[in-house]
Order: sequence, then C-alpha cells, then structure tokens
Amino acid sequence: MRMVTLYDGTPVPVMGLGTWAMGGRSRPDPAQDQRALQALADAFAIGYTHIDTAEMYANGHAEELVGQALRGLDRRRFFLTTKVRPPNLSYRRTLQSIDGSLRRLGVEQIDLFLIHWRDQTPLAETFRALNEAVRAGKLRYLGVSNFDLAELQEAQALSETPIVTNQVPYSVATRSYVRNGVIPYCQQHGIVVTAYSPVEEGRLRVQSVLTAIAAEHKATPYQIALAWLAQQPWVITIPMSHNPEHLRQNWDAAAIELTPEQMARLDGLA
Ligand SMILES: NC(=O)c1ccc[n+]([C@@H]2O[C@H](COP(=O)([O-])OP(=O)(O)OC[C@H]3O[C@@H](n4cnc5c(N)ncnc54)[C@H](OP(=O)(O)O)[C@@H]3O)[C@@H](O)[C@H]2O)c1
Repeated sequence: MRMVTLYDGTPVPVMGLGTWAMGGRSRPDPAQDQRALQALADAFAIGYTHIDTAEMYANGHAEELVGQALRGLDRRRFFLTTKVRPPNLSYRRTLQSIDGSLRRLGVEQIDLFLIHWRDQTPLAETFRALNEAVRAGKLRYLGVSNFDLAELQEAQALSETPIVTNQVPYSVATRSYVRNGVIPYCQQHGIVVTAYSPVEEGRLRVQSVLTAIAAEHKATPYQIALAWLAQQPWVITIPMSHNPEHLRQNWDAAAIELTPEQMARLDGLA
C-alpha cells in the first residue's frame, strides 16, 4: 500500500475506510449493525488500517462499532481518526467529547483527532482543550476538516503540534478545495489532504474519460477515480463501502499506476 509520511515519520496508508452511514446515519440503527461489523471485518481482512469515523456518525454508534470490530486485534496496527462535532467545541465539551470517543472506540489514545467543521466558538478555546489532550497522551495528532485557508492557518498558529491534515471533499468531480487554494497550500506545506466523498457518495458520474482509462487498466471507473486521488502528493482518501467487492476494488485502486497523460486527462474532468 502506498503511504504518506507524517512529520515524525509515521506512515499513513493512502487508502483508508470511511464509516459514515455504518450503524445508522444521524442516529443509531441497530438493524444495520451486522452489516457494518461485517464490512469492518472484511476491510480488516483485506488490509485496511486507517479507519475514519466521528462522534456525529450514528450519534456515536459508528465509533462503538469500530471499537467492537477492533476488539481482540492488535491496536498498534490501526490508525484511528475521529472528529468532534461543532456543538462540542467549547473547552469543556471538547474534553468531554474526546473522553466519549475514547470510551466508544475502546482505546487509550486516538491517532488523529479533527474538528469536524467550524462554528462560532473561538478556535483558540477549542485548541486549548486539544493541546491539553495531546499533552495528556489522549490524542496523537491533530487535524481539521472543512477548513478554508484562513481557518487552516489559524489552526496551525494555535496548535502546539503540527496540523497533520485537512479533511475536505475532493474527487474527480469536486474541486472546490483546489479552487479555494486549500489543497495546493496543503501540498506545499506537507499537510495531508484527506479526500472525503471520493466517489461522490456512490453517485459518481461515469464520464467517457473514466470509462476509457478504466478499460486501459482493466479496472472500474470508480477505481480510476480513486487511483487519481491516491497518486497525488500528500493526498489520502477514505471511501466508505459495505460491499466486499467494492472494498477490495477500492483497496486495489491505490496500486493502479496512472500515466502522466492519464492523470492530465482526469485533471481536465472538472
Ligand atoms: N469530514 C466530513 O465532513 C466528511 C463528510 C463526508 C464524509 N466523510 C468521511 O468520508 C467517508 C467517505 O465519504 P462518503 O461516505 O460520504 O462517500 P463515498 O465514499 O464517496 O461514497 C460511499 C458510497 O459509494 C459506494 N461505493 C464505494 N465504493 C464503490 C465502488 N468501488 N464502486 C461502486 N460504489 C462504491 C458505497 O456503496 P456500497 O456500500 O454499495 O459499496 C457508498 O454508498 C465517509 O464515510 C466519512 O468517513 C467526512
């Protein structure tokens, strides 16, 4: 698996697994548990180690399912990302949110902790809690999500440890964070871009360029869309899937070698 390397040398795989809609959407849906646990087990068997979740997903239940799926496995093999939701960005609530995520995931440390998106709370207040939690060993790395350039730079100034990622929507069809300057800035400054909704929530429009390049690689158009992300410097991605075939295809997409000419054709799609 291709890796990006964090500032201290820690490798993070370019292909991770998203968990939005696992075990419910805005609230827990126990009828979905078995399906989610099976998807997580399938993903672990394939080799996925970076799991992206959030306290918001199924109102904490996605984290519980990730914790359940990890039970009995070697914790050190996995890289767990989770996020604090905006109503919890005050100093006190951020600390409570971190403890809640640790409990639901059943771990002693979260690898990467993100502010899910900004609200009115001054960032300095949230970072007071985040910096404290890093010093206490509860969080390993800090990052942000859906931050524009000014917000990202403010976070960098407030964080006692380097901001390792900005998790943003990014796909062959969605380039808003290229246009607003965030992705070029991250790539110039060694900040990982975590591309979310990389296949447009399963509604990727399969254009002829994707079909043609897919045929050249005996791959699916979705795999080509993911390969285009995985091949870019400082970009990792976290597609979600419950389908074992898709999980395998997404994993294998990171190994597809697109030529510079194919990359350029895909660059030109949006
Ligand atoms: N930070 C944020 O604000 C934010 C926002 C959105 C998402 N995220 C994170 O990013 C993750 C990924 O984004 P997402 O879940 O919104 O969208 P996504 O990964 O682009 O799409 C997921 C959907 O695509 C389908 N799919 C996946 N791989 C496929 C393949 N190879 N071929 C065909 N269909 C495929 C899945 O269906 P099947 O189950 O049938 O495969 C699923 O319905 C989330 O799960 C979450 O962890 C973060």
